[in-house]
Amino acid sequence: MKFSPKKQNYSPILRSMVLAGVILLLQACGSKTPATDSAPAPEAPVVVDTKAPSDSKGVGKFTDVKLNAIDASKADLGKAVFATKCTTCHKLTADKFVGPGLLGATKRRTPEWILNMITGPEVMIKTDPVAKKLFEEILTPMANQNIAEADALNILEYLRQNDSK
Ligand code: HEC
Repeated sequence: MKFSPKKQNYSPILRSMVLAGVILLLQACGSKTPATDSAPAPEAPVVVDTKAPSDSKGVGKFTDVKLNAIDASKADLGKAVFATKCTTCHKLTADKFVGPGLLGATKRRTPEWILNMITGPEVMIKTDPVAKKLFEEILTPMANQNIAEADALNILEYLRQNDSK
C-alpha cells in the first residue's frame, strides 16, 4: 500500500517521456520530407551565358579597379600594344576571329576581369566560370602575352574607347 502512490507518481513521468519520444520521432520524420523535396536544387547545373553581362572580377592581381573618364593618350598606347599582341586573335567588332569579337567587352565584363584575363588567361580559364565557359565554347586557349600591368591598363582604356564610339 505504501508503494502504490509512488507507482502512480512514476507513470505520468513515463507517459510524458514516451510522448516526448513520439514527438521527436514525428519531428524527425517530418523534417526528412522537405529535405528530400528540395534536394535536387543544388545539383542543378549552373548555366553560364558568355554573351550576358557578368559581374565576376575573375582571378588574378586586379581586385579593385576604379575607372575614370577615358584617357585618350593611354588608349593610344593601348592601341599600339593591341595591334601587335591581340589582333592575331581578336577583332574590335562583334565578329569572332580566333577569340570572341571584343566589341562590348567592357560592357559585359568588369575592368578587373578584363585585366586579369589579359595578364593571366591560363588561371582565368581554369578557375573563372565565364572564362572557363568561353574556352569550352571555343576550345582554343587565349595566349599569355606577358603583358605588363601598365600595358594591360592601356589596352583596357583602348577597349573602353572602342565601346564608347
Ligand atoms: C592565341 C589567340 C589569342 C590572343 C593572342 C589573345 N586572345 Fe584574348 N581570347 C582568346 C580566346 C580563344 C578567348 C576565349 C577564352 C579562351 O578560349 O581562352 C579570349 C578571350 C578574351 C577576352 C574575353 C572576351 C569576352 O567575350 O568576354 C578578352 C577581353 C580578351 N581575350 C582580350 C585579349 C587581349 C586584350 C589580348 C592581347 C593582349 C588578347 N586577348 C590576346 C584568344 C586570344
